[in-house]
Amino acid sequence: MFYTVEYIDDKLSILDCQKLPAEEVYLTLETREDVFDAIKKLKVRGAPAIGVCAAYGLYVSTRNVEEDFDRVFRETREYLASARPTAVNLFWALDRMERRYEEVKNLPLCEIRKELLREADRIYDEDAAACRAMGEYGLELLKPGMGILTHCNAGALAATKYGTCLAPVHLGQERGYGFRVYSDETRPLLQGARMTCWELAQDGVDVTAICDNMASIVMKQGKIDAVVVGCDRMAANGDGANKIGTSGVAIIAREYGIPVYFFVPTSTIDLDTPDGDSIVIEERDPEEIRSMWYEKPMVPEGVKTYNPAFDVTDHKYITAVVTEKGIVYPPYDVNLKKLFEEEN
Ligand code: MRU
Repeated sequence: MFYTVEYIDDKLSILDCQKLPAEEVYLTLETREDVFDAIKKLKVRGAPAIGVCAAYGLYVSTRNVEEDFDRVFRETREYLASARPTAVNLFWALDRMERRYEEVKNLPLCEIRKELLREADRIYDEDAAACRAMGEYGLELLKPGMGILTHCNAGALAATKYGTCLAPVHLGQERGYGFRVYSDETRPLLQGARMTCWELAQDGVDVTAICDNMASIVMKQGKIDAVVVGCDRMAANGDGANKIGTSGVAIIAREYGIPVYFFVPTSTIDLDTPDGDSIVIEERDPEEIRSMWYEKPMVPEGVKTYNPAFDVTDHKYITAVVTEKGIVYPPYDVNLKKLFEEEN
């Protein structure tokens, strides 16, 4: 069985998602440049996995620092935070590590290191538990035999264990639900084709790859009963940033009366961001559109490209938000806040 990001034998190890599905290669990340590069180049990707990797990455890349630890720790934190802008889990995890550091910074260095590792372990364990809980809540919304459409990869390859929106699919598989999953290929980086299909096929799930522009026809043909997707950042009003193309899927689903479920651990909900317009959208290398995956460039030379990595689905298209604390329904501006109030 594969893993996505693990701290094993004192090493931070990740599955290189960019090599899937052709090769299953694990990388050890030691320096802050290793960690930055892995996140930037999507060797590790998906909001929760990025957060877990950044937390362990901050620990491993500073654990041998003897001189001027405070400065190096803070610089490393800032550097890792600059790897990608949209998924809030990156900042959330690094903030947690920094808060823990503030609490223990007067202890001897060896104790500080132990505490930082413990915090990263807690972030990992909480993510695994959250995925499992979202899987159980998700199954309350899905019935055996359903056709499910998903976009990008918000599965075990994007988190610690079951994933977020694929958690109910994996759990359903264990329980004989017989879901039929349609996976958008997810241009331009093909997370759906390369990762969702790989992960679900490994688990024996009935999965069919479609091109992104086929979502409408499979919905019209009655093959889809629900859309499930993950999220990179959910604003306080319920607008959700996710992989580019998600908002189009949600708008089409509304036309066909198909529910759209966003799976969002509370680590991905950002109450400091009021709405989707305030979310920074990452723009990536034009080569991902122009030439990546092709033998020859497919866009004529000199023609401009635009490559936003995420879009924002307006909250009005989101039927429900599945979190590890339960299922949230509109009005999201009121009900998302309650998840955090109950904590205190
Ligand atoms: O660019 P990526 O591959 O990091 O984008 C991933 C997504 O958009 C996922 O759907 C999202 O991070 C949720 S992962 C549980």
